[in-house]
Amino acid sequence: MAIRPVDGWLPLTDECLHYTEESEVPPDLKKYWHQRYSLFSWYDYDILLTHDAWFGVTPEAVANRIAEDMPSHNLSNPPKDIIVDLFAGVGGNTIAFALSGKWDRVIAIERDPATLACAQHNAAIYEIPEGVITWVLADSFDYLARVKRQQQQQVRKHELVDPALDLDFSRTVLFASPPWGGVNYRDQEIFDLNTMEPYNLETLHEACRPMEHALYLPRTSDMRQIAKLAPKGGKKIEVVQYCMEGASKAMVVYLPAEEDASNQKG
Ligand SMILES: C[S@@+](CC[C@H](N)C(=O)[O-])C[C@H]1O[C@@H](n2cnc3c(N)ncnc32)[C@H](O)[C@@H]1O
Repeated sequence: MAIRPVDGWLPLTDECLHYTEESEVPPDLKKYWHQRYSLFSWYDYDILLTHDAWFGVTPEAVANRIAEDMPSHNLSNPPKDIIVDLFAGVGGNTIAFALSGKWDRVIAIERDPATLACAQHNAAIYEIPEGVITWVLADSFDYLARVKRQQQQQVRKHELVDPALDLDFSRTVLFASPPWGGVNYRDQEIFDLNTMEPYNLETLHEACRPMEHALYLPRTSDMRQIAKLAPKGGKKIEVVQYCMEGASKAMVVYLPAEEDASNQKG
């Protein structure tokens, strides 16, 4: 069966929570709850998160800045007007992409139903009109593999991916903020991206190429491993450290499309 967009609203579950009082917050989340307004400035308007989402959500100011920095219409040739958030979580980046107004299509993929239900709910809190974001409950690697197979016409058009989710590679930018394998990256002075779990750097890059893509990675990620991803032909890659209050929160690696991408149309 083809991967399709979510039809309407996924049901909120008892995993989708909003804490108003510190006494309600589990001990391992207290530190993050104290930072709730830097995660979502509209937190008090009933923003919902699952337990795990507290550890991985992109702070709002960082998400907004990334949305500004993502190459799109004016900056790239050919212009990019489709963005796919491959690990949408509770919507931190997806909401910022939608609010930026830079994209004709924002596609948000998340494989956990409760987390995606929170993201839909949170996007509504941020007054993003229904229909602006295309929500997809799926494994993003499966989705990308299907899009590529469909492009290569190994199967009949739209057999693997619904028409609403088909991609023109030359117009698409992928954004990936994967899990970072717990918090062990904090213990390493230089984070070995080959050991990142459950998806290492190579797995992520292989899944995303030949499309232009941006990878949201731990701030101490090994630059030597990142440099090896530069495509042939002298194209540069950009690495940006996103900082708040004098400290880096994460780095984003911006990787250009590879040459043959512009020949593939959706
Ligand atoms: C670090 S969080 C993303 C946070 C998100 N950027 C935000 O600001 O809310 C990673 C998310 O990826 C989801 N995930 C992990 N593997 C996935 C896969 N193969 N396909 C789709 N989603 C996946 C997890 O359920 C988790 O919600």
